[in-house]
Amino acid sequence: MTAEPKRNAGYRAAAMVEDGMAVGLGTGSTVFFAMERLGERIAGEGLSFTGIPTSYQAAIRARRYGIPLAGLDEYPELDVAIDGADQVDPALNLIKGRGAAHLREKCVCDAAREVIIVVDPSKTVDTLSAPVPVEVLPFALAGVSRRLSLLGAAPVLREGVKKDGPVVTDNGNFILDCDFGAIGEPEGLETAIAAIPGVLECGLFTAYTEKITVIVGEKIGCRVVSLH
Ligand code: A5P
Repeated sequence: MTAEPKRNAGYRAAAMVEDGMAVGLGTGSTVFFAMERLGERIAGEGLSFTGIPTSYQAAIRARRYGIPLAGLDEYPELDVAIDGADQVDPALNLIKGRGAAHLREKCVCDAAREVIIVVDPSKTVDTLSAPVPVEVLPFALAGVSRRLSLLGAAPVLREGVKKDGPVVTDNGNFILDCDFGAIGEPEGLETAIAAIPGVLECGLFTAYTEKITVIVGEKIGCRVVSLH
């Protein structure tokens, strides 16, 4: 797939940012395009806003584009968050966390009045079915793994690339990728996973459907989906 769908989605999201806003900045390649365009708007129009990055990756990229940054301490309420997703269903439930950033992404999503999800068409599905990433306190790895198995997954500890051993998240934790097959009740599954001691967050996002707008970038233009 070419980059055009992701670029079109990212650029459309960037057009929704206004002067003075506090803007959550998600992680991943589609948000990069939003940041690229926001950088152009800062340089070209003098757009002024503050970005709240969800990862080291997002912060490093945002600085490259000249986006001023702050944290949730300074901005516990955000005007909008722009983020990617790994799967989106018709009810606008999401699976996130391919990049292991979903813990901070969920904090930012929760803090935002409006959430713009930017995806290419490959991310839209009838039923969520991708493995669900679960961020786990290393101390509790074995117990959490056992409890996730009882929920029907076969948890796999995510391994680093160009680093031996497990991925260590920006928060110092591990990731278990949990394949549940087709997820019939995502909200119930998210609640069940969240109830396990030692789980920091899972990549199911089911509580924000009312404030989410999904921008699906196409080869030409975008499709915009929301429940409001
Ligand atoms: C990061 O952990 C994920 O939640 C990303 O938001 C997601 O993987 C989207 O990435 P792409 O835009 O690169 O597909």
